[in-house]
Amino acid sequence: MKSNISNVFSPSNIGALSLKNRLALAPMTRVSANEDGTVGPLMKDYYQSFADGGFALIVTEGLYTDKLYSQCYKFQPGLSDEVQMSSWKEVTEAVHENDGVIIAQLMHAGALSQYNKYTKGNAAPSEIQPLGEEMGIYYGEGEYSVPKAMSQEDINEVISGFASAARLAKCAGFDGVEIHGANGYLLDQFLTVYTNKRSDKYGGVLANRLKIYKDIVEAVREAVGRDFVVGIRFSQSKVNDFEYKWPEQDEGAKTIFQSVLACGVDYIHTTEHVAKGPAFENGLSLASLAKKYANIPVIANGGISSDSDANYLVESGQADIVSLGKIALANPNWPNAVESGQPLQDFDFDMFNPLADLKTAKQFMSA
Ligand SMILES: Cc1cc2nc3c(=O)[nH]c(=O)nc-3n(C[C@H](O)[C@H](O)[C@H](O)COP(=O)(O)O)c2cc1C
Repeated sequence: MKSNISNVFSPSNIGALSLKNRLALAPMTRVSANEDGTVGPLMKDYYQSFADGGFALIVTEGLYTDKLYSQCYKFQPGLSDEVQMSSWKEVTEAVHENDGVIIAQLMHAGALSQYNKYTKGNAAPSEIQPLGEEMGIYYGEGEYSVPKAMSQEDINEVISGFASAARLAKCAGFDGVEIHGANGYLLDQFLTVYTNKRSDKYGGVLANRLKIYKDIVEAVREAVGRDFVVGIRFSQSKVNDFEYKWPEQDEGAKTIFQSVLACGVDYIHTTEHVAKGPAFENGLSLASLAKKYANIPVIANGGISSDSDANYLVESGQADIVSLGKIALANPNWPNAVESGQPLQDFDFDMFNPLADLKTAKQFMSA
């Protein structure tokens, strides 16, 4: 229906950034960097294809922030030094040339690290072995190892790693950064009671478990200045605990979203299995709760594949922008295809078989 489509195709903005529509590429790890964490040979064309296909906003895969404990995957790209930073310039330029905006997602693996080129062993809020098993589609195998509990010095280094990576993102031509606070990685490990048994200021009540988010957002803001976009991503579900729900429910969502608002983030990106579904038993979606309690631009993600789902989230005021993951991999031109009434391809998990990397995807697409 034309009137619906015009909503998701209407312009939007985040902070000082103007977006030509309300469609974003969701962050997706593609383990296709070079061994030294620089941009690999297939990555420029990959990111450019989404800008060329009409996505206004591209959020990169999670990039590691330091050479200590942040790296999660083999062939994961980083933003931990000048060489890695410079390698991103061709990507940011290609996206800009195609009228897109690109945000770097900054990520710390914590206990979920499956590979680290720089440091032996993992570090996390507490010495607790993660649930589940390492992910084979990212070169993992077997159980996760038991991390050491981070000292205050380790935490200080995590915070300065995020700040430094954000500064490098700005130098590389990115339009903003997104702090990965979701999906079971380090920040989420602090937020979650069963992975955070600390008795210091970073553990215990929800406000303490949120302290690392606050410290990181403030340090990043200080590093990049007021005008550079800083967003944050939240989820309930984790890559190693799919059905997890925030135990404090609606009240917890209120505290979480209000506290990051108070630190000065420009947007909140929520992800759920089904973006429009209720976050808890009944009631509002997680995106709607972010909108209700923070009232800044919200990006909703999860299970959105049709234009009617995308439009519904925007039209109903649950989100300002929607981000598409797997369906965008099957249709890098999703916005242009939908706008011109072309058919869409279904996503096929064989695209990640045996690896969720760009080489496997390319072979799959050309088969
Ligand atoms: C291969 C793959 C890699 C992913 N990597 C990341 C990541 O680096 N950072 C992140 O926040 N989410 C990551 N996600 C989660 C997606 O951003 C998104 O939340 C999820 O795919 C659900 O959205 P969808 O239903 O549109 O695919 C990844 C998902 C997939 C399929």
